[in-house]
Amino acid sequence: MADVTIFVLHPNEQYCQEIIQAFQSYDSDLELVAIADLRDAPNRVREEQPAAVVVGVDTPNDPALKSIDTISNMPGDVGIVVVSKEPTQRLLVSCMRAGSDEFLEFPIDRDELAKAMDGLFRRKGIASQTQGKVTAVFSASGGTGVTTIACNLAAGMAACLQTPHAACIMDMNLQFGSVALVMDVREFSHTLADAAHEHERLDENLLSSFMSTHASGCAVLPSPLSLQELEGVDPWDLRGVIQTCRKSYTHTVLDMPHSVDDCSLVGLDEADEIFLVCDMVLPAIRNTIQAVEVFHELEYKPDKLKLIINRFYDSDQVSLDEVVEHVKLPLFWLIPYDSQVVITSLNSGQMLEAADAESPAAHSLMALAQHTVGLAPSVRPKKKRGLFSWVR
Ligand SMILES: Nc1ncnc2c1ncn2[C@@H]1O[C@H](COP(=O)(O)OP(=O)(O)OP(=O)(O)O)[C@@H](O)[C@H]1O
Ligand SMILES: [Mg+2]
Repeated sequence: MADVTIFVLHPNEQYCQEIIQAFQSYDSDLELVAIADLRDAPNRVREEQPAAVVVGVDTPNDPALKSIDTISNMPGDVGIVVVSKEPTQRLLVSCMRAGSDEFLEFPIDRDELAKAMDGLFRRKGIASQTQGKVTAVFSASGGTGVTTIACNLAAGMAACLQTPHAACIMDMNLQFGSVALVMDVREFSHTLADAAHEHERLDENLLSSFMSTHASGCAVLPSPLSLQELEGVDPWDLRGVIQTCRKSYTHTVLDMPHSVDDCSLVGLDEADEIFLVCDMVLPAIRNTIQAVEVFHELEYKPDKLKLIINRFYDSDQVSLDEVVEHVKLPLFWLIPYDSQVVITSLNSGQMLEAADAESPAAHSLMALAQHTVGLAPSVRPKKKRGLFSWVR
C-alpha cells in the first residue's frame, strides 16, 4: 500500500509505538507518523493531509475528542480511527459524535484492525491504494529453490498475519508447475487457466472461488494441468489475474519460471519486488549476473531487486563476498543449505517450519516471511537465533 500516510496521535510514546506496530503488521508499507502533541495535530493534518489519523481516547472527557472534532470538520476526507483502552458505550457515542469513523479496542486485534481499515479505505475512496504487495520469486537457473522459497514465504506470511486474505500464491510455471504438490493441495477444481479465461469478469469473489486453501490459510492458485487449458489466454489475461490478486490479498507471491518471456514478464513487471534467487555454484551466479543486466535494461528500479542466496554453505571455491561483488546487488537474505529438512518437507507435503521448526533453513524462511509482512523480531522470542541474523 504505497504512499498512504497515517498519523498516530497519543501523548504517551509507548502507547503510540504499540499502535504503530499493530498497523505495520496490517500493512508494512503504511507510513506511520507518531504525533505526541495533540495541539499540533490539526495543523499537521491540514498541511500534510494524511489518509487517516488514529487517535487514542480513554475517557469521555479526553482532550483528544476536541482534536477529533476539529479534524473531522476540516476540508478533505481524512479518516479518523479511535483506539481506546476503556471502550465503554458512552465513550463510543462521544467519539461518533465528535466525528470518528472507526473504533478499536486496545490491545488491537488484527482481524478487527483489518476489517476496520479495509472498510475505511473503501469508504474514503482510496481503494486503489489499499492494494496488496506482489512479490515475484525468480531465478535465472533451474533448481535453485524458487518454489521452495515461494511456497514457504506465502504460507509463512499467511501464518504470521492470520487475517482474512493475508496471502496467496500463484504458480506462474505454465507447464510443470509444482506449487500445488509442494503445498500438498491434492484436490483442486480450478487453476490459473480458469482465472485467466475469466479475467474480464474476475473480481475478488470469483477469484476466491478459484483458489484452494493451504493449511496455513494461504490461498493457492495452481498452474494449469496441461497447456491446452491455456488456449486463447495471452499475457495480458495473466496480468489481469495478478492485478485481481493484488486487490484481494495483502500479499501475493508469484512462483516464477526461469525464463524471461512474454508471460513471465507480466509477473516480473507487475511485481513490487523480485526476490532473485541464486545459489553458490558458478552457472547460477553467471546467470544471475545476466538476469540483473536484463532487469537493468528493463529499467527496473535497483531496489526492486532483492538478492537471496539459497543453499548457502561455507565454500572454499566461492565466497559470499565474491557472489555479491559479481552480481552487483547487496545481499538481502541468506538461506542455509539444509537438505534434510527440505527433503522431509517435500516428501511429507509440509512447510519447512512444520517439518522441523528448529532447522536453520526453516528459521531463515520464517524470518523472511515475518520481515516481508513487517513483523517485529520479538514476535518469535522462542527462537535462539536473532531474526535478522540471516541478513548481512
Ligand atoms: N535451502 C535448501 N537446502 C537444501 N536443499 C534445498 C534448499 N532449497 C531448495 N532445495 C532443494 O533444491 C531442489 C530445487 O528446489 P526447488 O524445486 O524449490 O527449486 P526451483 O528453482 O523451483 O526448481 P525448478 O527449476 O524445478 O522450478 C529441491 O530438491 C529442493 O529440495
Ligand atoms: Mg520451481
